[in-house]
Amino acid sequence: MNNLKGRDLLSLADLQTSEILELLDLAKQLKTGKLQPSFERKTLGLLFRKASTRTRVSFSVAMHQLGGHVIDLLPSSTQVGRGEPVEDTARVLDRYVDALAVRTFAQSELETFANYCKIPIINALSDREHPCQALADLLTITENFGDLKGLTLTYFGDGNNMAHSLMLGCALVGMNVRIASPIGFMPSPEIVAQTKKIATGKSEVLITNDPRLAAKGAQVVYTDVWASMGQEQEADDRIPLFQPFQLNSELMALADKKAIVLHCLPAHRGEEITAEVLEGDQSKVWDEAENRLHAQKALLVSIL
Ligand code: CP
Ligand code: NVA
Repeated sequence: MNNLKGRDLLSLADLQTSEILELLDLAKQLKTGKLQPSFERKTLGLLFRKASTRTRVSFSVAMHQLGGHVIDLLPSSTQVGRGEPVEDTARVLDRYVDALAVRTFAQSELETFANYCKIPIINALSDREHPCQALADLLTITENFGDLKGLTLTYFGDGNNMAHSLMLGCALVGMNVRIASPIGFMPSPEIVAQTKKIATGKSEVLITNDPRLAAKGAQVVYTDVWASMGQEQEADDRIPLFQPFQLNSELMALADKKAIVLHCLPAHRGEEITAEVLEGDQSKVWDEAENRLHAQKALLVSIL
């Protein structure tokens, strides 16, 4: 059993390589149903400032299947939405729930929760990272390819939260990672530096504006929306800039013949990905969405 009890997951880089691999193994065992751990009377709080289908439902179902309980702390029906300071909310929730999954804008808000709570804080998506999704993605990749080491993942599009967690996750498990983004939408220089440091001597990191170069021979091709939650007003202006990075059959033809297609969802067909590719034989997006449940169950069993 890993040593994650009581730990926060604010960034995927909070985990060591061995801890990620152990979580993936545990997730696989939980998925088969052979292992059925349970914890009665544990409560997970969900404090989400942004919309969510997969993350909200998979955490809720995971807790239910483990014998625990979830409280949905909607900002609209709690004092969170009326501006109670995060420091106060954190110290109060710390006395009630056993862990808190937070979906918000600033990474600093997650850090405040972590600083003011003794219970584990889980990043359920911030503007900077989406570590729970990246865990499910690594689970999906290992289900398809076995050993992760040496595989190449290419991400096309916005250098956003998803790109950041995939970069860190791939580097940690020894995968090569390529990010192809338009100028002005590259991943954060700090995350690039952190990724390169982790990858040194183990795998390759390529950050480029050339989607065709990045696509060549990749075993995993990944994309996400061109405008994330909170950037809706920029969506139309971004379309022409991002068009060359659309995951379509031309880019797929450059990837490895056995490449799989991943997308965290929700997807915009005809923008970041064509319907043909999303619905095609190489797409594993529904398995990937299912794996949110198994990966998060493994995380909950480990931290609680
Ligand atoms: N992929 C993902 O996090 O989806 P939701 O926004 O629906 O939770
Ligand atoms: N980058 C997207 C991911 C949604 C799951 C967003 O933040 O909106």
